[in-house]
Amino acid sequence: MSEKRSSFTGKIGFVLAAAGSAVGLGNIWRFPYLAAKYGGGIFLLVYIILAITFGFALMCAEIAIGRKTGLSAIGAFKKLDKRFGFIGILAAIIPAIILPYYSVIGGWVTKYLVTFVSGGMKAAANDSYFGNFISKPFEPVGWFLIFMGLTALIVLLGVEKGIEKVSKVMMPILAFLTLVIAVYVLFMPGAIDGLLYYITPNFSKFSATTVLAALGQLFYSMSLAMGIMITYGSYMKKDVNLESSVRQIEIFDTGIAFMAGLMVIPAVFSFSGGSQEALGQGPGLMFVTLPKVFESMTGGAIIGALFFLLVLFAALTSSISLMETVVSIVRDKLGWNRKIVCAIVFGFCLAIGIPVSLGNGIWSSFTIIGMALLDFFDFVSNSVLMPIVALLTCIFVGYIIKPKAIIEEIEIGAPFKAKTLFTIVIKYIAPICIVLILISSVLSAFGIMKI
Ligand code: PHE
Repeated sequence: MSEKRSSFTGKIGFVLAAAGSAVGLGNIWRFPYLAAKYGGGIFLLVYIILAITFGFALMCAEIAIGRKTGLSAIGAFKKLDKRFGFIGILAAIIPAIILPYYSVIGGWVTKYLVTFVSGGMKAAANDSYFGNFISKPFEPVGWFLIFMGLTALIVLLGVEKGIEKVSKVMMPILAFLTLVIAVYVLFMPGAIDGLLYYITPNFSKFSATTVLAALGQLFYSMSLAMGIMITYGSYMKKDVNLESSVRQIEIFDTGIAFMAGLMVIPAVFSFSGGSQEALGQGPGLMFVTLPKVFESMTGGAIIGALFFLLVLFAALTSSISLMETVVSIVRDKLGWNRKIVCAIVFGFCLAIGIPVSLGNGIWSSFTIIGMALLDFFDFVSNSVLMPIVALLTCIFVGYIIKPKAIIEEIEIGAPFKAKTLFTIVIKYIAPICIVLILISSVLSAFGIMKI
């Protein structure tokens, strides 16, 4: 890039921008359905432990790598050690895999917003509404195109800054509204059982799959292991307290995910008694459950519309951050004009996103290793590639450039309080755990081993 790197004005600016990328569908849509599916409390517990150890260490490392080199992923790894540029390339592939299917879900959110605004809440609260919608051939593709088009337009016109400004106002409102809805849900009949399921760990449900699901979700939700935080770090000023910024981003991101679970899971118990089938339904969970909650509320149509509008903003700030990353990587590599690169990335997303959308309906018989396309892309990015990139990053930091290099970078701004924890996690705990989890999950995905 020929432009000079501008930097965030200070800590608040940095934290808000990084939180804008982190908080998105991962928190509101993905976290609750995984927590419901993987045993409730045990998933939550594993997730929180991973967040304060793995998540913390990796986010510190990534942001410090970015700030130290002033470059985004591909260049940053290469600058630190010529032989390791490939980690950056591998990391850069991930946003390109996520963006198309992320936009399919973004399309669903857009559809629900429009449905609520146009008085369709009653219909949306019907059990079969969601299933009917996503299995249609044209309609979900249309909403995907609208969401994808909006993302591309914002990136093309370079108005991300404007969107980010709006989202800085919207995000706290989203957090507040989620809390209000969660409190309302807790007073619904049967919800307390759901609350207990969500917060009490049941150790008999612990398995390697739970840990892998939580780990993949952690990376996804905090935008880790895909080079994004390296790029954000490259814009961070040297005197900003990196460690406490990371803490704040983590608390905000995990807090919103926790509240989203609090809003969805007890509601599932209230409406369907917490049956295994209802809890394990996967990506549709939020879309099936929340309209029912809104329908039962006074003023639910307005609250529902507001909720989906806010979620749409959270999704857009994340999809913009994904697309921006892909576009800038291609531009850095090929040096092409921004408009052309945007058009190419857009075309690529259509080529992947349309089959993903059709995979929920007329193409549902087309599966890869037994998975529908949406699940397949989700699996490849979150359960395979991200753990691999995280593992390579840990090895790189732990044994090639050494933790000291990162600690020194962090300490330019302020003393690094958790440096011992950081070093132990990066050098030993994270690499060993990731290898074990990866092996067992890949074996089980191919049906070789039951875990
Ligand atoms: N972290 C975002 C979410 O939780 C997803 C995302 C990943 C966004 C990577 C940007 C980059 O929804």
